[in-house]
Amino acid sequence: MTQTHIAVVGAGLMGHGIAYLFGAAGHRVRVQDPSPAALEQLPLRLREICDLLGTDRATADQVEGSSSLAEAVADADFVFEAVPEKLELKQQLFAELERLAPARAIFCSNTSSIPIASIGARLADPSRLVGAHFWNPPHLVRLVEVVVKDEANRAAAERVVELLRAAGRHPVVLNRDIPGFVGNRLQHALKREAIALVAAGVCDAETIDDVVKLGFGARLAVLGPLEQSDLVGLDLTKAIHDVLISDLDVTPHTHPYLDALVAKGELGMKTGKGFRSWTPETAAAVRERLRTFLAKSARADGSESGR
Ligand SMILES: NC(=O)c1ccc[n+]([C@@H]2O[C@H](COP(=O)([O-])OP(=O)(O)OC[C@H]3O[C@@H](n4cnc5c(N)ncnc54)[C@H](O)[C@@H]3O)[C@@H](O)[C@H]2O)c1
Repeated sequence: MTQTHIAVVGAGLMGHGIAYLFGAAGHRVRVQDPSPAALEQLPLRLREICDLLGTDRATADQVEGSSSLAEAVADADFVFEAVPEKLELKQQLFAELERLAPARAIFCSNTSSIPIASIGARLADPSRLVGAHFWNPPHLVRLVEVVVKDEANRAAAERVVELLRAAGRHPVVLNRDIPGFVGNRLQHALKREAIALVAAGVCDAETIDDVVKLGFGARLAVLGPLEQSDLVGLDLTKAIHDVLISDLDVTPHTHPYLDALVAKGELGMKTGKGFRSWTPETAAAVRERLRTFLAKSARADGSESGR
């Protein structure tokens, strides 16, 4: 693919990683953020990624920060939105982008949960907007869920898929614009049962995490759940479902156990207590363990594909 002009709106946790990816793929990238602090940190965060992945620090120079939306998107072929998860903010932003960006530009939202149809509600041409749901950190986790709102924007989605593939990502296309897309639906189905088990006193939170990490989680990165069902046989999967499905949690709203923790201000690592207890040291150790693991996998992926 020839050099493409990419604009990223929002230079936060997701935006800077998305910008890195496209800079590393050789595109010209402009990142817009109204926060001077976010723009000041941008080059430092990009260089940190280069150092983590052992890539050339010159990649960071491919990415330019700007406080002006008009300047950042003026000649963009693709605009990736990564601003806070607020519907009104995103709707307003895309209406403005339609005025400021070239008519050829394709718009992508990195929303985690808001339907793409709602985000594009104020666009004159909603067919140019698709969901492009990256996972955190986007420079280390290869999956991107590309969400097709309806047939009208399939062509735009195909161009996004091509761009993402060329940047070393693994895009998957979802044919329906549903809350949580696929990844978060699966992840939160697991969390729903985990919380219900702790709330019922079956085991504590640490045990849940051990069961996942040391049990079926140990193979999840190389064997998906449906692949695993095919491997063991659907007769066995059905036999287990016949016994188990009717016993799984079906609370039709956020579990009261989670509501109570949040009401008490027990929000996890940032407050020292959530499902489990944390010190600054144990929380830092978890973050470092995750970063090292994902960076090692990303480097291995890069060398396998010759990138
Ligand atoms: N954090 C995650 O794990 C994750 C994963 C996948 C998707 N997402 C989604 O990505 C989006 C961004 O999340 P994040 O975690 O990067 O948030 P963040 O708070 O780290 O970054 C958001 C950035 O947007 C900037 N911003 C605010 N208003 C703006 C505006 N009007 N124009 C331009 N920039 C503006 C902020 O200054 C900030 O730098 C959200 O929709 C979120 O749901 C987050």
